[in-house]
Amino acid sequence: MSINKSWFVLEDKIKKIAGFSYTDIQFTQALPEMFIKEYTQKGDVVFDPFAGFGTTLFAASKLGRVGVGVEYDEERVSYIKKTLKSPSKIINDSSLQLSKLDLPKIDLVFTSPPYMRYFDKENPLSNYTKAGSYKDYLSGINKICSQLKKIVKKNGYVVFEVSNTFDKDYPMTPLAWDVGKVISKYFYFERDFIFCFKNAKIKSTSANDKHSYCLLFKNI
Ligand SMILES: C[S@@+](CC[C@H](N)C(=O)[O-])C[C@H]1O[C@@H](n2cnc3c(N)ncnc32)[C@H](O)[C@@H]1O
Repeated sequence: MSINKSWFVLEDKIKKIAGFSYTDIQFTQALPEMFIKEYTQKGDVVFDPFAGFGTTLFAASKLGRVGVGVEYDEERVSYIKKTLKSPSKIINDSSLQLSKLDLPKIDLVFTSPPYMRYFDKENPLSNYTKAGSYKDYLSGINKICSQLKKIVKKNGYVVFEVSNTFDKDYPMTPLAWDVGKVISKYFYFERDFIFCFKNAKIKSTSANDKHSYCLLFKNI
């Protein structure tokens, strides 16, 4: 499927993984596959600085690309390690210190950051282990983007899947706009795509159950 529209609908196929009770943070593998096919060639390097359960890396590997990821959570990393085939690889570390890691030059970043609402009290970039404000979170995203700038190839692409968030009892956090603004300090904002789930299992009133954005940037 090539991406010829500014919006698209995908089946909500989230893989349940044995041993993990909470896997809802994953995106469906069809999502990175679409972008990898469109923006890379076989043999190219696809990077995910927030690898989670490795969906981007498995998609890259399946399509004959090299998937490289960084993930903070040790258990998710050991799950990925068991299944991911070389030369793709996962590194257990924090993307806040990307420049210290042994990373190749990258053709495409495809990722979804951990989400934060402006009134939350823990910074998700520390895996919720440290107190932090929304301002700290955005400055962490800034730090990561400044390091990505040095490793993404010229004319390479960066895609962040991110939603604005709101719930019935909480006010809106324009996360997609705020994260997009930070990324655009380093990369040229080419366009956005609206992505919806077919037959979404909408249990809450959360906006990101219904649609999300894929923000596409180029390293010009
Ligand atoms: C939205 S999830 C990504 C899910 C992934 N797209 C998938 O399909 O499984 C964000 C991930 O970023 C990880 N994370 C949070 N802070 C991090 C950091 N500083 N460095 C690396 N990974 C981090 C979290 O542990 C979480 O697994």
